Amino acid sequence: MKIKDIPQKLLEIKEEDRFRQVRDLRMMTASKGIDRSGKEYIVFNSNDYLGMTHEPEVQEAARKAIIYGTGSGGARLTSGAVFELSDLERELASFKHTEDAVIFNTGYMTNLGVLYALAGLTDVIFSDELNHASIVDGCRISKAKVVVYKHSDMRDLEKKLQEIKTDGQKFIYTDGVFSMDGDVALPELIDLKEKYDACLIVDDAHSTGVIGEKGHGTSEYWGRNGIDIQVGTLSKALGAEGGFVASTRNITDYLRNCSRPFIFSTSISSVTGATALAALKLLEREPGRFMKKLHDNADYMRKLLKEAGLPIVDAPTPIIPIIMGEETKALRLAVRCREQGVLLSAIRPPSVPKGTSRIRLTVTAAHTKEELERAAAVIIKNYR
Ligand SMILES: Cc1ncc(COP(=O)(O)O)c(C=O)c1O
Repeated sequence: MKIKDIPQKLLEIKEEDRFRQVRDLRMMTASKGIDRSGKEYIVFNSNDYLGMTHEPEVQEAARKAIIYGTGSGGARLTSGAVFELSDLERELASFKHTEDAVIFNTGYMTNLGVLYALAGLTDVIFSDELNHASIVDGCRISKAKVVVYKHSDMRDLEKKLQEIKTDGQKFIYTDGVFSMDGDVALPELIDLKEKYDACLIVDDAHSTGVIGEKGHGTSEYWGRNGIDIQVGTLSKALGAEGGFVASTRNITDYLRNCSRPFIFSTSISSVTGATALAALKLLEREPGRFMKKLHDNADYMRKLLKEAGLPIVDAPTPIIPIIMGEETKALRLAVRCREQGVLLSAIRPPSVPKGTSRIRLTVTAAHTKEELERAAAVIIKNYR
């Protein structure tokens, strides 16, 4: 793109009502934030599923770690190898029942890092059409052939696995919980990966701390082993920032040695590592408290919206999409709710297919019953 064409491009984006701006928000609790004018909002567009960002024990761990420096000072293979990240890797491996885990700086970089390092010229990636943008971008930077299969359509995937031959490795890559619809990938993926000798990679960004009785993610939810590589983030249910891969030691060692996003980027700090580690340990110690509250809250919100006749998509997760169809409708509802103190996301193309624009709200374990009821009332009133 020519730099001189940018003003025109911006104008087009504005005319299409797609111009987006960062709006500052300060979270005062895990469910309430204020803007710069002091206006208060109940927040329903955060991925802080378990409210870990404001758990006293987690905040205390961050406070304690700050004496080891506010930044890590470098990439982990050079100077940034803070204790907390290695401790966290061990804990994540134990939580995911794998030999090892390796931390990346964001969940986004994790998917890029996995595909960059593992998928080469002779390989084929079979990718669900609704996979997150970071998987799509990872497919783009890998040199592998990319085959997109219809969303959770096992027949379509099998047909493609049969048709496409390779001397290299076949990868099946899927979100565990799909970020825009909140549905869960199917366990039949394990059967297909076994039948076609593929490597199954599941991105548990919205699954870790969200599904499975103890919050272990997709594998626990399915009640089956067989995922070869579990990807995840520290940024959602674990109350911090960063991403991880849990797998065999061969895979994690290979990523540490060959994945450029791991090698060439300054690592997250001991503060961030200590935060995620404290959140993970708290979840492991008290899974019942967090998982029950999260799902009770999600069920209650679904019930309130459903009873009012809103077209919500059913799913066993706290991601609740309200399908609005037209972009303008979704946008209008989000704006009105914001004016009335409830923050939701309007999701529009290209994030979702045309005609399926939606409101996406995420319920967390931190919401109170009153907050759920107040938000539901605002949404219902403005939907009509
Ligand atoms: C499925 C999935 N993977 C990866 C990411 C990126 O994670 P992060 O925000 O930690 O970079 C997201 C973010 O929303 C996601 O939904």
